[in-house]
Amino acid sequence: MMDDRMIKELKGEDLLYGEFAKYYDLLYSKAIDHRKAASTVKSLIRRYKRSGGIELLDVGCGTGKDLLYLKDRFRCTGLDVSDAMLKVARKDVKGVKLLKADMQTFRLGRKFDVIISLGSVIGYAKTYANLEKVIRRISMHLKPGGVTVIEPWIEKKDFAPGYTSIDTYDSKDLKIARLAYSRVKGDTSIVEFGFLIAEKSKGMRYISDRAVDGLFEDSKMVAMMRRNGIDAKIINGIKGAYRSRYIVGVKR
Ligand SMILES: C[S@@+](CC[C@H](N)C(=O)[O-])C[C@H]1O[C@@H](n2cnc3c(N)ncnc32)[C@H](O)[C@@H]1O
Repeated sequence: MMDDRMIKELKGEDLLYGEFAKYYDLLYSKAIDHRKAASTVKSLIRRYKRSGGIELLDVGCGTGKDLLYLKDRFRCTGLDVSDAMLKVARKDVKGVKLLKADMQTFRLGRKFDVIISLGSVIGYAKTYANLEKVIRRISMHLKPGGVTVIEPWIEKKDFAPGYTSIDTYDSKDLKIARLAYSRVKGDTSIVEFGFLIAEKSKGMRYISDRAVDGLFEDSKMVAMMRRNGIDAKIINGIKGAYRSRYIVGVKR
């Protein structure tokens, strides 16, 4: 018998927002104030940057919403590994260069005055060995006196296993619910996501995804940056940031 259910199901692991990318900003803009985050980043750059230029790179730029508020001051380049996220960024953010690349292996053949990586992208490195690859890439792409601003993921000591959450978006023709359930495995967090999307004339879709992130200690990350030529420190109480803390570093 033919299955006439209206719900289309998509299962994945680390889908990197594939099917969900076009809805990403609708849901996440409630939790992240990109304008405020960009203004904080600008003041940190004013305070710490000693190189003379305005070249800025965003590692894991996603849909590009931080670049949107930084491109008035900087010549911006964004890189991300997800085609779907880059597609949204290309549509929404004009006048910036957008590249498909992996944060662990990128080699752009030029150096930057500022390298940012916000929204806990760094957690996707999963292991300390991979994290060091990312830090090395950031260091080799920074000019002496250039600044990096990294928003870390949650530290292991602060991660609550068994935590559940729900976020919703509700407009006339589109309803979205995102449920999450978190657990810890070794030094990683595993967050199971269920996205339910009901859209006029398109029907109902269910996307399940699993995000695996490294629960890195901030102090270990700072030490890793120092041994890779970046003098770094943790700054707490950041407004507009998802995790309310940034690691800021200056290339020696
Ligand atoms: C939570 S989103 C954050 C996006 C953006 N930085 C922001 O704050 O809105 C994480 C992004 O990291 C990207 N990402 C994950 N692993 C990556 C990798 N190995 N290299 C580059 N980007 C990666 C994903 O594709 C996704 O766009």
